[in-house]
Amino acid sequence: MLISKIMSLINTKKEIQEKSILIEIYGLGYVGFPLTVRLATANFKVIGIDLNEERITRLKNNELMDSEIHLEDEYRKCRQQKNIELQTKPMKSLIPKIGIICVPTPIPNENIKSDVFVKSAVESFLENAKTGDVIILESSVEVGTTEKIEKVIESKGYKVGKDFGLCICPERIDPANKEWGIENIPRVIYCSDELSFEISKKIYQHINKGNLLKVDSPKIAEVVKSFENTFRLVNISLVNELAMLCDKLKINVKDVIDAAATKPFGFMPHYPGAGAGGHCIPKDPRFLLESAKKFQTNFVTIENALKINLQMPNYIANSVEKSLSQKGFEKSVIICGLSYKSNVEDMRDSASFKIISDLKKKDFKVFGYDPYFSDESIEKYLIENNLNELNFEKIENLNNEKLKGISCLCIVQHHDIVKERISEIYRQGIIPLIYDCQHKISKESNSKSILEFLGE
Ligand SMILES: NC(=O)c1ccc[n+]([C@@H]2O[C@H](COP(=O)([O-])OP(=O)(O)OC[C@H]3O[C@@H](n4cnc5c(N)ncnc54)[C@H](O)[C@@H]3O)[C@@H](O)[C@H]2O)c1
Repeated sequence: MLISKIMSLINTKKEIQEKSILIEIYGLGYVGFPLTVRLATANFKVIGIDLNEERITRLKNNELMDSEIHLEDEYRKCRQQKNIELQTKPMKSLIPKIGIICVPTPIPNENIKSDVFVKSAVESFLENAKTGDVIILESSVEVGTTEKIEKVIESKGYKVGKDFGLCICPERIDPANKEWGIENIPRVIYCSDELSFEISKKIYQHINKGNLLKVDSPKIAEVVKSFENTFRLVNISLVNELAMLCDKLKINVKDVIDAAATKPFGFMPHYPGAGAGGHCIPKDPRFLLESAKKFQTNFVTIENALKINLQMPNYIANSVEKSLSQKGFEKSVIICGLSYKSNVEDMRDSASFKIISDLKKKDFKVFGYDPYFSDESIEKYLIENNLNELNFEKIENLNNEKLKGISCLCIVQHHDIVKERISEIYRQGIIPLIYDCQHKISKESNSKSILEFLGE
């Protein structure tokens, strides 16, 4: 006789010991994909769900992004072992399910709410859910989102914390960081009940050895995530303002920071650049601002930091213009490093695209170079940077032929794979002016190029 199991959180906790549960990961991007590979490698059955059919097709063909190549062997193995299924929609299952939500959370405006994708992923999970299932939010969300999700779950007849689990465990990864990754970054988690926490521990044991700090309210977890990125944004803006002052004082900002960093307490070095971009640092602090607005209070520190961050690309464009005009050089420049961060291919909300737009307005001839630039993704880059067209001429490499007649190489991001070539260009004086937004090139007395920095 077939006895149907009673689906409950107790049962899910039992089944997870045997790994006889299904994990559905919603959103196979920078956060969801590595998580999928990690959990599948730990022998869980994982369904990777992404609305983007193209992404699913590419993954089915084992076509990974540059930043994912290090996971390729593990990924292929998991696919062979059938531990990863790829789908655009979830399916019904009788075994307990854990849904992990890793979808984007855009900056809210009059046209879009930040939780639009989170809500749709949750709704989609709930279409085939049952008692005993658990949802874990990994996306960075606005304060109050988890409570809203709880209401959505309860509107389907479940009792969160009794027969259905809800947790929030915001992802903290820093792409291209070789020291701190998904496997060793401690995580903050809120769970609706003790059983859901026990279940989560069994999962995160295979992600970061279960290094979880449990907090007592979903709002704490939500605010922690936004506050961490606010700390980064505020410090980046602070050091960028210092760099602009050092330009006037004619002292080297890096000398100042490195000397200050010898203080063994109360100081954490941050370094200047063309402005924070990407999908996290300029965005998550806005979630705290939204919260403040709801209570009719201010968060002036965030407002100022965002303002400074927005000004940086224009400051770089003006500095390049001023320097070239003082030296009597022509207005031609290569912007090198188009992604928002060194050593990643992610071009979302990137300072380079803003510098290019500003230089174009100043009638510069602008070329763009990034070893990670992919022609197939041009449309995506335009959307991600609010542009209608690619307003620069893209160059494929930094060979001498391509650099002929160019006055300035403006390095916005230093990618390791072009490091050697850039020092060669500097040493051999292949381009008259090199403007380094990140202070990474060391001055050499016998070089034939002029080297200038942001924060000279
Ligand atoms: N990228 C990072 O470094 C990073 C770090 C920490 C936290 N986060 C946060 O994690 C979340 C995801 O960021 P990301 O960088 O991985 O985004 P991403 O854009 O790289 O990936 C998100 C994926 O979700 C898919 N998607 C959208 N709606 C969906 C739905 N309803 N169901 C299934 N798939 C859906 C998209 O097609 C996309 O492929 C965001 O909240 C972000 O702020 C990102």
